[in-house]
Amino acid sequence: MLRYLSTAVALKMFSLNGTTKKIYRKLGNTIGQRRRLKVKARRRKSYFDRGKLFRELCEQNMEIKPGSKFLEIGTGWFHWYALYLSLFHDINSTLFDIWDNRQLDVMKTYINNLKEHFQSCDEDYSQQIESIDQILQTGSFDELYKLRNMEYILETSGSLAQFADNSFDCIYSFHVMEHVKSYENNIKEMFRILKPGGLSIHQIGIDDHHTHYDKKESPKNYMRYSEFMWKYLFENDVQYINRLQMSDWLKLFEKYGYNFITKICENREIGGIKIQPKFQHYSQEDLNCIILTIVHQKPL
Ligand SMILES: C[S@@+](CC[C@H](N)C(=O)[O-])C[C@H]1O[C@@H](n2cnc3c(N)ncnc32)[C@H](O)[C@@H]1O
Repeated sequence: MLRYLSTAVALKMFSLNGTTKKIYRKLGNTIGQRRRLKVKARRRKSYFDRGKLFRELCEQNMEIKPGSKFLEIGTGWFHWYALYLSLFHDINSTLFDIWDNRQLDVMKTYINNLKEHFQSCDEDYSQQIESIDQILQTGSFDELYKLRNMEYILETSGSLAQFADNSFDCIYSFHVMEHVKSYENNIKEMFRILKPGGLSIHQIGIDDHHTHYDKKESPKNYMRYSEFMWKYLFENDVQYINRLQMSDWLKLFEKYGYNFITKICENREIGGIKIQPKFQHYSQEDLNCIILTIVHQKPL
C-alpha cells in the first residue's frame, strides 16, 4: 500500500502546474526510454501478441485494400500497431497523439526483437523480415513515415475536428481510451470521421494504473475510493484514468451508433476489497475485466 500511496502523491505533485507536467514528461521520456531499451521478455511478448491480435481483428472484420486508411489514436513511443500491420498490408496510417513521446531507438529495438521472433517461427515471414531490415536502416521518424506511408499528427487538445467526415477505414487505439477525459466526445467524433462500414478497435486498460507500481494491490483498488476521495487524493493529470468499466464502454459505443462485433476480456480476480456504492452495481464479469478489447463497425 505504501508504494501505491507514494505513487499517488508523486503523480499528484507532477500534476501541479505546467512546469511540473513538463518535468514529468521529460523524465518520462528519458527514464521510459532507458526502461524500454532493456525490454523484458514478458513485455516484448505482450507487444507481439497485441500486434498479432490487432492484425487478426482487422483481417477478420474488414477488407484491407492497398491504401486503406487507418487512424491510430494515442500512437505513443514507437507506432507499434501501425508498423506491425504495415508489415502485412500496404496501408496508409495517420498516427495521432497529444504529446511527442516518440523514441526512434526504442522503435528499432522492438522491431529488431520482432525480426528475431519471426525468424524463430515455422511460418514464412521472409517478406516481413525484408521490410523490417528496411525499417532498421531509417535514420529518423520522417524517413520511416515516407517508407511506410505514414503521417504523424500532434494535436495537444486531443480534438479530432481537423479530420473530415467519413475519412478512415479503421480507427483504433491501444491503452489510450482510459486516459481520455473527454471520452464521450471522442467516441462521437471517431464515429463521424469513420467511413460507413469502417472498423473501430480499442484495447482499454480497465485496471487501476497505480497498481502497476504496486503489484500487491487489487487490480481494481480504485473501487475502494469514493468520487470525492479519488478526485482529491488520487486523480491526476499526468496519468489520468477515468475508472469506466467494460459495460460503460459498450453502452457508450452503442449510444453513438456503432454496431457491436466482438469483445475480448483479460480477467483477474479482484480480491476481497471493500467496493464503494458507486461500483456495487457492476457484474462479476465487469469487476474481473482488467483489459478490454472491443470491436465495432459504423453501419453502412
Ligand atoms: C499508455 S500510452 C499508449 C501508447 C501506445 N498506444 C502503445 O500502446 O504503445 C497512452 C498514449 O495515449 C496518448 N493520449 C492520451 N490522451 C489522448 C487523447 N485524448 N488523444 C490522443 N492520444 C492521447 C498519450 O499521449 C500516450 O501516447
